[in-house]
Amino acid sequence: MGTGAAAADAALAAKVVRGDHAAVGRALSIVIDESEGYEDLARAFFVHSGRSHKVGICGPPGSGKSTLINRLVAHYRKAGEKIGVLAVDPTSPWTGGAFLGDRLRVQQHAMDPGVFFRSLGSRGTIGGLTSTIFGAIHVLEAWGCDRILLETVGTGQDEVEISRVADSVLYVTTPSLGDEIQAMKAGAMEAADVLVLNKSDLAERDKALAALQEAMGLGGRDPRLGGRETAGWPVRVIASSAAKGEGLAELVQAIDDHRAWLAGSGAGQARAKDQLRVELSWLVSRRAARRAVDSISDAQVSDLLARRTDPVTLGARLTGGAHRSVDHVGVAVESIGAAMAFYREALGLEAVHEETVAVQRVRVLFLAPPGAGPGGCQVELLEPTGPDSAVAKFLAGRGPGLHHVAFRTQDIASDMARLATRGTPPLDGAPRAGSRGHHVCFLHPRHAHGVLVELVG
Ligand code: CO
Repeated sequence: MGTGAAAADAALAAKVVRGDHAAVGRALSIVIDESEGYEDLARAFFVHSGRSHKVGICGPPGSGKSTLINRLVAHYRKAGEKIGVLAVDPTSPWTGGAFLGDRLRVQQHAMDPGVFFRSLGSRGTIGGLTSTIFGAIHVLEAWGCDRILLETVGTGQDEVEISRVADSVLYVTTPSLGDEIQAMKAGAMEAADVLVLNKSDLAERDKALAALQEAMGLGGRDPRLGGRETAGWPVRVIASSAAKGEGLAELVQAIDDHRAWLAGSGAGQARAKDQLRVELSWLVSRRAARRAVDSISDAQVSDLLARRTDPVTLGARLTGGAHRSVDHVGVAVESIGAAMAFYREALGLEAVHEETVAVQRVRVLFLAPPGAGPGGCQVELLEPTGPDSAVAKFLAGRGPGLHHVAFRTQDIASDMARLATRGTPPLDGAPRAGSRGHHVCFLHPRHAHGVLVELVG
């Protein structure tokens, strides 16, 4: 990217933060599609994130979620809040899915500068929910949203996932969908903080409420005071009619109560941490998968065709878990501090793990290039912690330098057995505890042509 493009991105980010309505639409498109410049934008927006109340709204199609969302938006706008709505729709390649709903909503709130609607297709998904939803949330938060409503279409999987993204989860259903309650019980409803029985002006209302109570194990209690505790929060059940606006005040109160409970109980902090863990893991999985897929060669596919190898073996190699790839190179040093200065300043490596392995009387520091994935080769600096350490003896005899080469193995026990039967037994009779929680064994240099070999399981 040229400096001109970078400056344009910075200008766009600044416009979003100032509250520019047109800019937020452009920024959302760039971030959601991951088109050029999205990394800089995403970095710029992240510092403004974590401030809104994210409310997930899920439930089966036909439960009236969209009407309910429009009611909530109108309520929050009246209260002076800035609102974002992200709708997660499955993208149909034939109909272009998401956009009809968008257009209808844009008409309703077209003149309101304090609302932003956007549909996200489920392209690039893990499960059903689009994995760039976090980036979209950060854009809306940078724009100044007080509350973000996250709507799913209700295919089941989305709803479990929305509970990993949202702070508070509403599950919307209707009396006529009462028969589905048992079926839903095991999945999406488990994630709900507030259950909304919509269209409850219908005749089946009481019956459905009873079924809901039964399903939730609330029998005999006030339906508005749930009985199921999720980490200290009793799930609320609200009867409403979104079309007539009934039950809206109670619903708004339940949402606010849940937000207050999150803030007061420490559960909000736990959810925020979980959301960041999910965001990072989705991003890493998406990138790692893309990189692995891009690296598939025609030769590898030909090997599969000829049955010279198999997908499991190739898959392990492509995703960085390659059997017997070099895990790290061990370097014996007098002082980790002095050596680290060289490796950091001259070679640009970063410390990724430091540990004292008491039984080996050695302090170790692992180094890797910035941003290196878990499959990359690292450098292990070894400093003795006592004169009887094997590394101290190595230093006394040969001076600092290359100490061992470590290979990754998927089955250390069977590798050790195989080495023993071919007359090159490991130094250890059984795998021992190494650094980073691994099991390791060593192979004497006389068996490995002059190099101490470590196997890391
Ligand atoms: Co090692």
